[in-house]
Amino acid sequence: MTDPTVAAWTRENERYTDARAEQAWAADEITWGIWNVPESELHALPDLAGKEIVELGCGTAYFGAWLKKAGAARVVGVDPTPAQLETARRCEKHFGLGLEFVEAFGEDVPLPDASFDLAVSEYGASIWADPYRWIPEAARLLRPGGELVFLRNSTLVILCSPDEDVAAVETLQRPQFGMHRFSWPDQGVEYHLPHGEWIRLLRANGFEILDLIEIQAPAAAATHEHYGYVTADWGRKWPAEEIWRARLHRPSS
Ligand SMILES: C[S@@+](CC[C@H](N)C(=O)[O-])C[C@H]1O[C@@H](n2cnc3c(N)ncnc32)[C@H](O)[C@@H]1O
Repeated sequence: MTDPTVAAWTRENERYTDARAEQAWAADEITWGIWNVPESELHALPDLAGKEIVELGCGTAYFGAWLKKAGAARVVGVDPTPAQLETARRCEKHFGLGLEFVEAFGEDVPLPDASFDLAVSEYGASIWADPYRWIPEAARLLRPGGELVFLRNSTLVILCSPDEDVAAVETLQRPQFGMHRFSWPDQGVEYHLPHGEWIRLLRANGFEILDLIEIQAPAAAATHEHYGYVTADWGRKWPAEEIWRARLHRPSS
């Protein structure tokens, strides 16, 4: 039986991501999230020059393409959805950036221990994989001192979401205590944790937390044409998206 999230991303590839992939790969600037806030404003990433990077949940791999263009030595994209990887491989053939791809879930990655300087997830494993399984995988894949940077929906926007694909409202719609696995009829299974759980989970896996960047929709931002779970007006008042940055401890000598 096909995994429900892989089935959902196969549909999403057909109705949205495949047609937009080349244009996304062609962009020269790294931007974050549905409001396209530039990395040059947020400073969420470490220096990329010469870095070996794994992206967990690479999708069509536009984000990995931006990292490679920004100077990374190696970018390996990991994703469990064959249709998404097919689009990524087509774009790689077209742009020739040298990205590598592996078909796997973020919870169980067939790559060696301590083989990357940076693990990223831009709405990949960061919401679609179980954090209690993919955070240990990210720690395993990183070299000591390596960094983990991931973008997810904010906990607040999930608490204010009445239902799948319904824009967040201004009152709490669900309990925070106990939040973890969300199974939506159309979009498969997502995972969202409260902040205290994220902090404990990252620390338990050897990470020191460097930053938590709550993204505000810019004054000129419009509600996204496709991702209707939040309006731009909501996103100007509260963070709908957040970036976590953490560093794996070096063993003390
Ligand atoms: C929004 S897309 C990622 C976009 C990506 N940053 C890009 O540059 O195209 C989300 C991806 O997460 C993948 N995904 C779903 N379940 C996953 C899991 N358990 N582990 C890792 N990735 C997963 C989906 O197949 C999908 O391609």
